[in-house]
Amino acid sequence: MKAAMTTVPVPLSAGRDYTIHIGSGLLAEAGATLTAVARSSRAIIITQPPIAKHWAKPLQESLCAAGFVDPDVILFPAGERYKTLATMASLCDKLYNLPRTIDRKTLVVALGGGVVGDVAGFVAASYLRGLDYVQVPTTLLAMVDSSIGGKTGVDFRAGKNLVGAFHQPRAVLADVDTLRTLPPREFRSGLGEVVKYGVIRDPALLDAKPVRAGDITAAPETVIEIIRRSCVVKADVVCADEREETGLRAILNYGHTIGHALESATHYRRFKHGEAIGIGMVSAACIGEVLGVTPTAVREKVQAAVQTQQLPGCIPNDIEPDTLLALLGRDKKAEDGVARFVLAHAVGDVELMGQIRKESVLAGLALQQSLCTSARIEEIS
Ligand code: GLY
Repeated sequence: MKAAMTTVPVPLSAGRDYTIHIGSGLLAEAGATLTAVARSSRAIIITQPPIAKHWAKPLQESLCAAGFVDPDVILFPAGERYKTLATMASLCDKLYNLPRTIDRKTLVVALGGGVVGDVAGFVAASYLRGLDYVQVPTTLLAMVDSSIGGKTGVDFRAGKNLVGAFHQPRAVLADVDTLRTLPPREFRSGLGEVVKYGVIRDPALLDAKPVRAGDITAAPETVIEIIRRSCVVKADVVCADEREETGLRAILNYGHTIGHALESATHYRRFKHGEAIGIGMVSAACIGEVLGVTPTAVREKVQAAVQTQQLPGCIPNDIEPDTLLALLGRDKKAEDGVARFVLAHAVGDVELMGQIRKESVLAGLALQQSLCTSARIEEIS
């Protein structure tokens, strides 16, 4: 029996609205879905070798069957370290040197995880001053977060996503079948963002039963449903504050202040993004608790959800709180070097708060550590 398919609208203004398609078997139908948004029969797939190995051919075949002519596949190496301007230049070279020249009506198809989506999206935002593109995310993290909302870019010097552009896709196709080739740890990492949507807006996601990589095959409807609910929250927030101007979009960074500092302190090698966010969400809950913003019951709920989804919730002992504090002023949400935190008043009611004193952050991290000792939460490294 075919698993359920569903869609989530992203109702942006001025004809830039698009649809997120979520389901099983979507790659086989990608050609038909994408003809509806393409302005010509020319499409270029940008992806990485490990993803191309599994999914480029079925996508190409589907595009050809729907009338796209010889869709080219352009590759760049896998890994966050290739999310650079050098990769961007090499992809532009490859586009420039294609035997058949491309024009402004060419559709770029970003096939892969968050790095592919960000880099291919930025190429699409820039080449010929802007091409249409669609996102075909192949990781849970990309399906629930990075493929939606039009943030594109590359890392620059010490800054993650420091150079980039807002450029909205024309469609997002999240085929859960592609998650079958995802390592379980990557799958769990995506659940970090799902828990985040639970905290900021949708209590059902916070109360969700444990979701495991095996559910992609055994219970795809469960996986489709958590992706759908997450996308509903993301789409809603993005539409309300597309360019992060009012502060609302910043709530998508719940758990990210300490999470980003942990990733940076460990040179992006120790934690998967969602793991760092799991720890960071518990930190934010504890900081909120010491400030009297987050009730203890809410902190406990956040902590329980992180544990349920088998994400780490403790800062490893070898990472000093002072090291994290020193990195906070560099956070993209920092103002005048003072870190800001998204804190929860209740589940579904969060606020971006500034002027949080160093002492309060340290007290929150100390509370987190004391809970870790008593609850014996295991570190995943
Ligand atoms: N991932 C945060 C955002 O899209 O704004």
